[in-house]
Amino acid sequence: MILGGLHDKARQSLDPAHYDYVAGGAGEERVLADNESAFDRYALLPRVLRGGAERDTAVDLPGAPRSSPVLVAPTAFHRLLHPDGERATARAAAAEGAVLVTGTASTTAVAEVTAAAGAGPVWFQLYPHPRREVVRALAGRAEAAGCTALVVTVDSPVFGRHTRDLRHGFTDLPPGYAAENMRGLPGAPPGALTDIPMSPAVSWQDLDDLVRHTALPVLLKGVLHPADARLAVAHGAAGVVVSNHGGRQSDAVPAALDCLPSVVAAVAGRVPVLLDGGVRRGSDIAVALALGATAVGVGRPVVWGLAAEGEAGVRRVLAGLRDEYDHTLALCGGRRNTDLTKDMVVRRGGTW
Ligand code: FNR
Repeated sequence: MILGGLHDKARQSLDPAHYDYVAGGAGEERVLADNESAFDRYALLPRVLRGGAERDTAVDLPGAPRSSPVLVAPTAFHRLLHPDGERATARAAAAEGAVLVTGTASTTAVAEVTAAAGAGPVWFQLYPHPRREVVRALAGRAEAAGCTALVVTVDSPVFGRHTRDLRHGFTDLPPGYAAENMRGLPGAPPGALTDIPMSPAVSWQDLDDLVRHTALPVLLKGVLHPADARLAVAHGAAGVVVSNHGGRQSDAVPAALDCLPSVVAAVAGRVPVLLDGGVRRGSDIAVALALGATAVGVGRPVVWGLAAEGEAGVRRVLAGLRDEYDHTLALCGGRRNTDLTKDMVVRRGGTW
């Protein structure tokens, strides 16, 4: 188990309200649980005697050639969880060859995050907003800071209702912390969670505007419906992330993994399809890649690593997942990620 010790250590070290902010989900947390248990419903059917000993699990992603198949998904407010905050996460991701998706909701400004990552690839996540100057300004900052792609989160027209946060009354950042990327932008001053721009008014035309105004590839995160995946490609997205925000937005959607095959079919290889939600083991990565994902993102596991042991903890999580995946690939008789194919994934409990 990669996470066992780190998760327990994080739980013990964090303020209960902050632990629950990370651990929790929306509503009754059905989607949160389903994201993980969806992987238990699948088994891997290995191939044998395929020869060749050298394995290569690197993936080519927009603005990130030859990186780890495990990305750091955007998660908010790392300084709340460890004093080294986003800088530690950035150093760890770079050391492990993993793309870091840093977010608008960061307690460290994006230029400091990219500086900490050095040569490591960093993508910038933002929420769409009907005030296009806000989105353009954020995108411009990310580009100037050296980010190599933008990730627009489209599953959040409104803020999710996090049951545990409501119970703790955790609705704002404590004094001394701010959403640093919002500083000096048009709109509300930084400091409150609600400063992060979310709006039900945005549309595909707002995405068109961003694609026109940035030189960076733009990926869409939070696509579950295959029709939206097709629209994303038609509107110029350079990739699609199948994600339900780790069960933090709607508590009525399917597990992310269950949405993957239809999105992969709709995209038909035109752009990479990524998946996040519930990835906890190397075999989960293998199942996702066999079902057509190019790479996976991890959210909470990275945060548990950070909270428990800072940079070293994040490295343990990223290296552990990648190594476990490499081992699973070997056990499946594979050398390349593309050796994992759909016919090698079966429903647990029988292949007939
Ligand atoms: C998130 N996630 C998220 N996503 C996003 O696009 N912008 C954000 O600011 C955040 N913030 C955030 C905070 C915390 C504490 C968590 C746990 C998650 C969602 C994240 O990117 C990803 O979709 C999920 O975390 C993936 O699920 P797992 O790996 O946590 O199961």
